Amino acid sequence: MADDGISQRKADHLAIAASGAGAHHRPTLLDDVHLVHCSMPELAASEIELGTTLLGRVIRAPLMVTGMTGGTEEAASINRDLAAAAETVGIPFGLGSQRAMVVRPELAHTYEVREAAPSVFLLANFGVVQLGQMSTAEVQAALDRVGADALCIHLNPGQELAQPEGDRDFRGALATVRRVCCDLGKPVLVKETGCGIAPAVALALDDAGAGAIDVSGAGGTSWIAVESQRARGDHARLGREFWDWGIPTAASVGWTATLGLKAQLVASGGIRTGLDAARALALGAQVVGVAQPALKAVREGGRAGAVAYLSHLIDGIRMACLLSGTRRVADLPRAPKVITGELAQWLAQRP
Ligand code: FNR
Repeated sequence: MADDGISQRKADHLAIAASGAGAHHRPTLLDDVHLVHCSMPELAASEIELGTTLLGRVIRAPLMVTGMTGGTEEAASINRDLAAAAETVGIPFGLGSQRAMVVRPELAHTYEVREAAPSVFLLANFGVVQLGQMSTAEVQAALDRVGADALCIHLNPGQELAQPEGDRDFRGALATVRRVCCDLGKPVLVKETGCGIAPAVALALDDAGAGAIDVSGAGGTSWIAVESQRARGDHARLGREFWDWGIPTAASVGWTATLGLKAQLVASGGIRTGLDAARALALGAQVVGVAQPALKAVREGGRAGAVAYLSHLIDGIRMACLLSGTRRVADLPRAPKVITGELAQWLAQRP
């Protein structure tokens, strides 16, 4: 793998994404999910059960911080602080793409979080195209190097096409996922990066052995939008034209939840509040993920700021459970709800 200015690219990504300038203009459609208010819940806030499992690991709340960064000194401290914050609240933490440390092994320390977060459920991260060029032993070595418990494989053809130096050949991805799921010996989560997962893709990933699928839908960070701001000329123009490309998060979750998959379902892409999270859980996700708001919180308030943001999100999920009369978060899909507007149309037209 060639070093193609990867550290500079990572620094650009952090600055653009954290500023919010790379957000989709169109919504997640989670606002179309209305949990029905219950005036007599017969519940105490203290008995709401938020604990669940992800990839066989018990977690304290149905929440995770999804993969973002690595490869620069700023990324190193963000990874350490976010991993420590995730450990404090008892949820999983994802590293950003480890391609940088494969290309330049001296950058491996920017992904090392075990000292700061010895027991956090830690997910390693590679793009599917890079994984296709690595042997399973090399992947295993990259996981061992950082002490990861599981692997996250990201799918991002939209971002690659919007990136002047990005990949252009996406053939063989399913075979790569199948090989890694079969040979790695650690659980695998496959995720999008802000464009959503269609039913045919979810079914193929489930069949290939993915233990969890994160739809990472449209409505939050748009990687086509982020790249369009780094690009010049024609690439920048293409990026602006495709800025809002993708399946809204709520539609992708709603579709995937009705497929009867073995894989667990994670909802990310534009989750900003506990109420957003509860709505995604009500649509059938088992866990929700956040990226950009956690980045913003840690950049503005350090480790304590990240803990405060994640705790606030969890408080919001608890409040939504209580106000919908739901004692166990796992029962949110059965809480009374009404689905309106554009989301109802997306769900009715599942391809
Ligand atoms: C990301 N995301 C990401 N995903 C991944 O699997 N590997 C990666 O290296 C990165 N890098 C990255 C950097 C930054 C700065 C951000 C904000 C995000 C994508 C992320 O995990 C998530 O899928 C999307 O950002 C959508 O979630 P939000 O940001 O709308 O909460």
